[in-house]
Amino acid sequence: MAQPRIKWTQADYKRIKKLRTGGTSWREIAEIFSPTKKAQLEEHHPRNFVKRFESEHGEPYERERAGMATPHEEATTGDIPEPIDIEELKQRRSAEFARKKANYDAKKLIPVKVNIDGPIGIAHFGDPHIDDPGCDIDLLYKHAKLVRNTPGLFGGNIGDTTNNWVGRLAALYANQATTAKEAWALAEDWLKECEWLYMIAGNHDLWSGARDPLHWIMKGRSGIHNELQVRMGLSFPNGNKATVHIRHHFKGNSMWNTAHGPNRAAQMGWRDHILACGHIHTSGYQVVKDPASGIVSHCLRVAAYKMIDTYAIANNFEDGHIFCCPVTIIDPRKSSDSPSFVTTCFDPEEGADRLTWLRARKS
Ligand SMILES: [Fe+2]
Ligand SMILES: [Fe+2]
Repeated sequence: MAQPRIKWTQADYKRIKKLRTGGTSWREIAEIFSPTKKAQLEEHHPRNFVKRFESEHGEPYERERAGMATPHEEATTGDIPEPIDIEELKQRRSAEFARKKANYDAKKLIPVKVNIDGPIGIAHFGDPHIDDPGCDIDLLYKHAKLVRNTPGLFGGNIGDTTNNWVGRLAALYANQATTAKEAWALAEDWLKECEWLYMIAGNHDLWSGARDPLHWIMKGRSGIHNELQVRMGLSFPNGNKATVHIRHHFKGNSMWNTAHGPNRAAQMGWRDHILACGHIHTSGYQVVKDPASGIVSHCLRVAAYKMIDTYAIANNFEDGHIFCCPVTIIDPRKSSDSPSFVTTCFDPEEGADRLTWLRARKS
């Protein structure tokens, strides 16, 4: 019986030459072809196939020089590896989305188990800007020490820990004596002064991008460090719960109400017990009740420790600094619709005293 004619093409020849140049053995080269071609190669040896092909057809280069037409089968891209593996790319993107969504969902309400009985307090530190010449650094350390020495009182940092000037704003380092390196040394030292319930990265902190030093400073320490916002669900030992919602800035400004941003958020659906923010370096406070759930929301805008602000003076911003470290006290012995479930003290020392007094009471 006659053997079927096997058609060897210029592409086959090129493929063999390329594989051979790349170090592939003759035996492995035979393996990659169809069974009929493989059998022929094994019978005659691929080296002989190459020689015969060259003698019959000539090298492509020689054919081009001779002005001969290039057969269609020579113009193939089959031997060129694709730059993108689409299946691998789809899998990678799918895993990336799943990871990002899990992170996003987990942060909607971060559960925090409170391990101490009785009332607790949160001292909300307004924008520190610790390296700014207008920052009252002594007050910053004084309040951190107060938190450290008051049982049941925790710190919360609303963000903008340092000026962290970058890009064109880096020119503003000319207006302060503290260098960028010294600023982070100060921040690290101050952050070690007390225990933190939360630590927000403000817009100034985020100018560092992926190199946000707060991330490394807070590693291995208690408290939640997050960019721009955090929402926590506190669970107390007696089963009572409270939600605390902090943002560097709650959107919304009103010339008539400096607490408009967090108040608006509470009335637009964020029915949390405490909503606090900073960023615009002014103070405001408002209490609002949700008639459906009975939840009373304490809405705070906290001023900065940067007491003297040349930018504010230059832009004719009025002095709205009333408090920069209010203390919110949560008494889990009260029901969440009670007027004393959450109380707010604008003076942190009074807040610490009230917390100590409340914790000593039987109920
Ligand atoms: Fe800010
Ligand atoms: Fe700020």
